[in-house]
Amino acid sequence: MSSNKKLFIQTLGCQMNDTDSQHIAAELEKHKDYSQTDKMEDADLIIINTCSVREKPVQKLFSEIGQFNKKKKDGAKIGVCGCTASHLGRDIIKRAPYVDFVVGARNISKIKDVVDVKGSVEISIDHDESTYEFATAKTNKYRASVNISIGCDKKCTYCIVPSTRGEEISIPIEMIVDQVQKSVDLGAVEVMLLGQNVNSYGRRFSDGREKSTFTKLLQEVSKVEGLERIRFTSPHPLHMDDDFIEEFARNKKISRCIHMPLQSGSTEILKAMKRGYTKEWFINRATKLRSLVPDLRITTDIIVAFPGETQEDYEDTLDVVNQVKFDQIFNFKYSPRPGTEALNMKEKEVPDEIGSKRLIDLIELHKRHLEAVMPSYVGQTLNVLVESLKPNGEVCGFTDNYLQVFTSGSDSLLGKFVNVKITSNTRTSLKGEIVE
Ligand code: SAH
Ligand code: SF4
Ligand code: F3S
Repeated sequence: MSSNKKLFIQTLGCQMNDTDSQHIAAELEKHKDYSQTDKMEDADLIIINTCSVREKPVQKLFSEIGQFNKKKKDGAKIGVCGCTASHLGRDIIKRAPYVDFVVGARNISKIKDVVDVKGSVEISIDHDESTYEFATAKTNKYRASVNISIGCDKKCTYCIVPSTRGEEISIPIEMIVDQVQKSVDLGAVEVMLLGQNVNSYGRRFSDGREKSTFTKLLQEVSKVEGLERIRFTSPHPLHMDDDFIEEFARNKKISRCIHMPLQSGSTEILKAMKRGYTKEWFINRATKLRSLVPDLRITTDIIVAFPGETQEDYEDTLDVVNQVKFDQIFNFKYSPRPGTEALNMKEKEVPDEIGSKRLIDLIELHKRHLEAVMPSYVGQTLNVLVESLKPNGEVCGFTDNYLQVFTSGSDSLLGKFVNVKITSNTRTSLKGEIVE
């Protein structure tokens, strides 16, 4: 069926929002005759899939939709989806009356039913999407993303996500395996398993079946023939038990790059954040992983200036950074969020200039680490999955431990594994020549 209506989607936020956007696009294409455009001015329907995790993206929502409304084609509709839709709901239409509908992050599967209903707001937080068949989402031809759970049962005191995505429900194992298989049939060699807390997988299914575990899921997914690489995000350091770590080390299909969101290196602050682990536990888990997986790369998320964070607490964070030597850090300055417990700690909030200074110093420390470690790859031969062709004729791909590598080549290499001898580096990527 040829589509004549055009859809423009802008996605803010995390990888889960990316997959949600792809699902929205697939549903509207299948049931409502829309095809996607990357030109907002051409669109008959404009959707912004929002993030609420910090205040900045929320402000961005209102400035963006204001612009969309000014520049959109006559008669084009505007819809707001995602996490900010969940927590602001009808207030979005009150503040921006030109918005046609609002669909929360836990109601994405309802998109085709609301798109033509002016003024509709679907934000129920207990909607069960765990057995809904989401469209196969792809980052590129070779990498697919598959949701393994919805929602989050943690109550980290700074975090708005549990109130925008609701309680955690695991997606049945056979649905996940089936979706991985479908992605592989369509050419994917790598899969990214997605959830807010992937390694608590299996504690609750909506059909009341017996509990399962993330380790079991990894074992089942890795049986899919033709699948070469499994990645997942985000695991919670608290649930990194020995079983999980041993499976991670043993299972050859699992990428040797793991995300370990530290948040803070201070046991006191971790307690105030309700993260459930201590500085020592985190270091112990990272050390065990590094000892079993020699070329492991570890990425992390860190929040500085959480209420009550003293200089000493901050130095504990730097100490963990120095000991674990993260390969990538996503740094954030604490941002107070509506409805979270940390809002009650207002009197302990850290002055903004101290927060900014801590952020800058942390970024500097990490830069120095990267400057020391990245040149050590020069001279090594690394196995790379080539996944894109750059406008300058180079191809780009990732190693199994997720280092980005550029080399000269052509589109005949796409989707193939090649050995690359590294000749130079930047702080975040490597360059080299293909060898046999
Ligand atoms: N479920 C994931 C995190 C999702 S939110 C996990 O637990 O790892 C992504 C990151 O945003 C978090 O890891 C945290 O570092 C950051 N974040 C969440 N709430 C924040 C807030 N109020 N202020 C600043 N950063 C925040
Ligand atoms: Fe937020 Fe914590 Fe859940 Fe992650 S685990 S989504 S940080 S509440
Ligand atoms: Fe993701 Fe942002 Fe929601 S990080 S879960 S889109 S608040």
